[in-house]
Amino acid sequence: MKAIVYTKYGPPDVIELKEIEKPTPKDDEVLVKVHAASVNAYDWHLLTADSFLVRLMGGGLLKPKNTKLGADIAGRVEAVGGNARQFQPGDEVFGDIAESGNGSFAEFVCARENLLALKPVNLSFEEAAAVPMAAVTALQGLRDQGQIQPGQKVLINGASGGVGTFAVQIAKSFGAEVTAVCSTGKMDMVRSLGADHAIDYTKQDFTQTGLQYDLILAVNGYHPLSAYKRALSPTGIYVMAGGSFAQIFQAMLLGPLMSQTGGRKMGGLSARPNQKDLVIMRELLEAGKVVPVIDRCYPLSEAADALRYLGEGHARGKVIITVK
Ligand SMILES: NC(=O)c1ccc[n+]([C@@H]2O[C@H](COP(=O)([O-])OP(=O)(O)OC[C@H]3O[C@@H](n4cnc5c(N)ncnc54)[C@H](OP(=O)(O)O)[C@@H]3O)[C@@H](O)[C@H]2O)c1
Repeated sequence: MKAIVYTKYGPPDVIELKEIEKPTPKDDEVLVKVHAASVNAYDWHLLTADSFLVRLMGGGLLKPKNTKLGADIAGRVEAVGGNARQFQPGDEVFGDIAESGNGSFAEFVCARENLLALKPVNLSFEEAAAVPMAAVTALQGLRDQGQIQPGQKVLINGASGGVGTFAVQIAKSFGAEVTAVCSTGKMDMVRSLGADHAIDYTKQDFTQTGLQYDLILAVNGYHPLSAYKRALSPTGIYVMAGGSFAQIFQAMLLGPLMSQTGGRKMGGLSARPNQKDLVIMRELLEAGKVVPVIDRCYPLSEAADALRYLGEGHARGKVIITVK
């Protein structure tokens, strides 16, 4: 089968489309024929090792230990392992297989069945592949860490990318009043996704307006933590999902300290893929409350271009790799 492999860290040029052996599912796994995958910042970090943490936290100090790439997947079950009971050959599934070793940028991949769920019936494979990592991150950031409540004022910074486009819609589905922060050309899009207010970050700094929010989900960009704190209501919650490395380190290191005084809570999110949240997303998608936003689709042979485009940091929703 054909698969994307990389044997050294670097820019997207280092990846290769190779003929490799088709995998065989372990007992708790299923073999999936991949129809579509989506690209995440996660893949970019693994490829480029742009943070030393990738190398330190098991990615491989000098070169990648795991040569496979791709976490998000949508496809059809081809075979099931000895103890896999949830799916049958022919089932259409989607999921985030990062915890099962990656490898969705390929014609076939094996994944633990508890990381997959049946694909939403109303979605194409491309649309379904857009969902898992970005939507579950948005869901867990808003619901679990952000404790979102109906009627709350919620601000999403970085609202126009993969996580952000889902976050706007998921926050609306919880009944929140949503403010989306993005650049000029994406204001109409975030409004069309349901945002009540849109702020153009190239023209206005939302941390300087004097307005306060019950929940801020920081997905992209950078503001000092003290500025985020200023933009929170007295019992508000700041959840850092992503952004610049400075943002990530500040939230992880200083967030707990800054939460010790006053009622405001500040912290970072570490999303965990799971089947229960995929099923919740499937319900929202089938009900039409959430719609994946797809920017571009690339064939598997152009996966390097897909990664390059994502790496520029200005995708409008999700970037897809179509395999079949
Ligand atoms: N914590 C976790 O568990 C977790 C899980 C998944 C992802 N993440 C992280 O979440 C982050 C976002 O992921 P993603 O999939 O949404 O990435 P993405 O799709 O690449 O995000 C691109 C978007 O970021 C926006 N953006 C760029 N600079 C901005 C700025 N200064 N202010 C506001 N928006 C800005 C761009 O909008 P414009 O073009 O309008 O600038 C673009 O729409 C990444 O850092 C990723 O590593 C974390």
